[in-house]
Amino acid sequence: MEQIIIDGGQTRLQGEVTIEGAKNAVLPLLAATILAKDGQTTLRHVPILSDVFVMNDVVRGLGITVDFNQEQNEITVDATNFIDHTAPYEYVSRMRASIVVLGPILARCGEAVVSMPGGCSIGSRPIDLHLKGLEAMGAEITQFGGDITAKAAKLKGANIYLDFPSVGATQNLMMAATLAEGKTVIENAAREPEIVNLAVLLNKMGADVRGAGTETLTIIGVKRLHGAEHDVVQDRIEAGTFMVAAAMTSGDVLVKDAIWEHNRPLISKLLEMGVEVTEEAGGIRVRSTVQNLKPVSVKTLPHPGFPTDMQAQFTALMAVVKGESSMIETVFENRFQHLEEMRRMGLHTEILRDTALIHGGGNLQGAKVMSTDLRASAALILTGLVAQGQTTVTKLEHLDRGYYQFHEKLAGLGASIRREGGA
Ligand code: UD1
Repeated sequence: MEQIIIDGGQTRLQGEVTIEGAKNAVLPLLAATILAKDGQTTLRHVPILSDVFVMNDVVRGLGITVDFNQEQNEITVDATNFIDHTAPYEYVSRMRASIVVLGPILARCGEAVVSMPGGCSIGSRPIDLHLKGLEAMGAEITQFGGDITAKAAKLKGANIYLDFPSVGATQNLMMAATLAEGKTVIENAAREPEIVNLAVLLNKMGADVRGAGTETLTIIGVKRLHGAEHDVVQDRIEAGTFMVAAAMTSGDVLVKDAIWEHNRPLISKLLEMGVEVTEEAGGIRVRSTVQNLKPVSVKTLPHPGFPTDMQAQFTALMAVVKGESSMIETVFENRFQHLEEMRRMGLHTEILRDTALIHGGGNLQGAKVMSTDLRASAALILTGLVAQGQTTVTKLEHLDRGYYQFHEKLAGLGASIRREGGA
C-alpha cells in the first residue's frame, strides 16, 4: 500500500513553490474540445493528474484522438471525424466530473448516452439541474439501466434559472447552448474562475458566450465551432493549499504565479487571522507566526464565497490556532470526514450537522490516518507537518486526482516527507 510519511512538529516551510494548471478547469475544457468539428484544439499548462487521464479516456472513448504530451503539459484533441454519442461506463464511472461531456455530445451529435454518476463520499451530488436545463433547451431525457439518454435533433435557446449556482450544470448548459438555435440565458450561474476559463476557450472556438464570471450568462448559438489554442488557468485550490501550509507552519512561502483575485475569499480569512499575505510581482507571499494568529469563523459558499474545496485544508490551519474557530459547510452535506481522522491526531472538534467547532492550539500527535477524499488527503498531510512525531497517510489515490508531486513540493519547501510503497 502506498503511503506518505511525515516527520512533523518542527516544520517551517520556506521558499518558492510552483502551481499547476487547475484540475477543475481542464476537465470541462477537455469536454469542450468535443464541440470542434473543424481543426484541432490544443490545451497548454495541463496538470499531470489521474483525473486528467480519466477524462482523456472518456473523450477517446467517443472515437476522438487525444494526444497528451506530458513533457510539454499539452493536450491536443482532434474531434473532426465522426464521433460516437455514447460515453462508455468503464471510463465515466471512474470520475463524476465526466458528466460534463453530456451537453457537448448532445449539442454535437443530437443524442448523448452517458452513465449516471454514482454516489460520492462528500455528498449525494445529484445532476437534476444539468438535466432540467437541457430539457428547457428541448432535449428529451430518459434514464434506463444506469444510463442517461438525451436527444434533441437541434437544441433551442432557452431562459434557464439555476436553483443553485452549480459549477457542473453551468458548464454543461453553457457548452450545449453554444450550438443551440438562438439565445440562451442562464441566471444564477456559477461564477468560478474555471467557468470564465471555459467561456474564453469556447469564444476562441467561435462561440458567443457573454457574462462569464457574473451571475447571468448569455449564449448566442452558432452553427459550428472550430479548434483553438488555450491555456489552463492556474489552480487556485492548489495555490490555496500551499498558502495554508505556509500559514500553519509559521512559514514564509512565495506561491508563484498565484492569482490574488481568484484566492480573494481565502486571503481575506488569512488576513483576518493575522497571517501576512502580500501580492508580489512573482505571485503571492504568505508569512505567519502561528502563536500570534487568531481563531475565525468561516462558511463555505459558491464563488466568490469561501471555496468548499479549501474547507478541509483550512480546518487544518484552524487546528493549530489557539482558541475556538468554526467552519460551516453549506455546499456538500458530508464533507467533515477528515476531522474524524484529525481527531485521531489529537484534534478537539465538535461537529453538529453543517457546523464544525475546532478547538485549536492543542497538542497534535502523529498517527496513521486515511484520506477520505481529495482535499481531505491534503488536509491530513498538512496536519502531519505540525503534529509531533510521525504521521502516515494512506489512500493516496485521492491525492493523485488533484495534486501533482505534492510531497515533492512540500519537501522542496523544507518538509520532512516521503512517499513509499509505489511501483
Ligand atoms: C465542482 C468542482 C468541485 C467543487 C464543486 C463546488 C469540478 C470538476 N469539481 O463540482 O471540486 O467542490 O464544484 O465548488 O469542477 N447540485 C444539485 N443538483 C445539480 C448539481 C449540483 O443539487 O444538478 C448540488 C450538489 O449536490 C452540491 C452543490 O450543488 O451540493 C454544488 O455542486 P456543483 O457546483 O455542481 O459541484 P460540481 O460541479 O459537481
